[in-house]
Amino acid sequence: MMKIAPSILSADFAELKNDIHKVEEGGADWIHVDTMDGHFVPNLSFGSKIVSAIRPHTTLPIDCHLMVENPEHYIEEFSKAGADVISVHVESTKHIHRALQMIKSNGVKAGIVINPGTPVSMIEDSLPMVDMVLVMTVNPGFGGQTFIPETLKKIEQLDALKKTQQLTFEIEVDGGINAETAKACADAGATVLVAGSYVYNAPDAKERIQSLKDAVN
Ligand code: DX5
Ligand code: ZN
Repeated sequence: MMKIAPSILSADFAELKNDIHKVEEGGADWIHVDTMDGHFVPNLSFGSKIVSAIRPHTTLPIDCHLMVENPEHYIEEFSKAGADVISVHVESTKHIHRALQMIKSNGVKAGIVINPGTPVSMIEDSLPMVDMVLVMTVNPGFGGQTFIPETLKKIEQLDALKKTQQLTFEIEVDGGINAETAKACADAGATVLVAGSYVYNAPDAKERIQSLKDAVN
């Protein structure tokens, strides 16, 4: 069963509690939190304080996507704030293995992320230790961008590696997801869909979540 993870980057920050309840009631499986530092990506968003603020208001797993340089510096605070999954970009640290170990030693599920320009071969040696691979389907930094179709072959490669190595990591996709691109990602092997603008920039978030589920299940 595909999981749907709405990204609160596209929520109304002044109505965050309501916007989380809205997607939870609408059938969301995870809440996706996008942290941006203005260095690793050309935009700023928010830090771990948003995680501790929303933690009491949802029972859903909180999925933290760190788009920051030196992600090691933030792993402990995100863990303490209540993150259930923390994902770090392989391009953002010289020591990806250490960062993944830190996440796991904090008792949190560990994800590794690749940008559109980064090949699967960069992360092959890390696959046995991760709970999730996040394949960026846009260049990170902004909501509302257009899906890059060339990323689909990487989802297929990861799905094949999962099977040959008998691994169980989730394959998450993030960026430009709508009913059409969701179907293509699902067919390629994705198991978690992040959707920001498609869910939140619509009058009825529940209908949008359902349309993603209908497209893939
Ligand atoms: C992009 C973020 C995404 C973003 C997706 O850097 O990682 O999670 O919120 O937004 P949409 O679904 O609008 O492309
Ligand atoms: Zn994200």
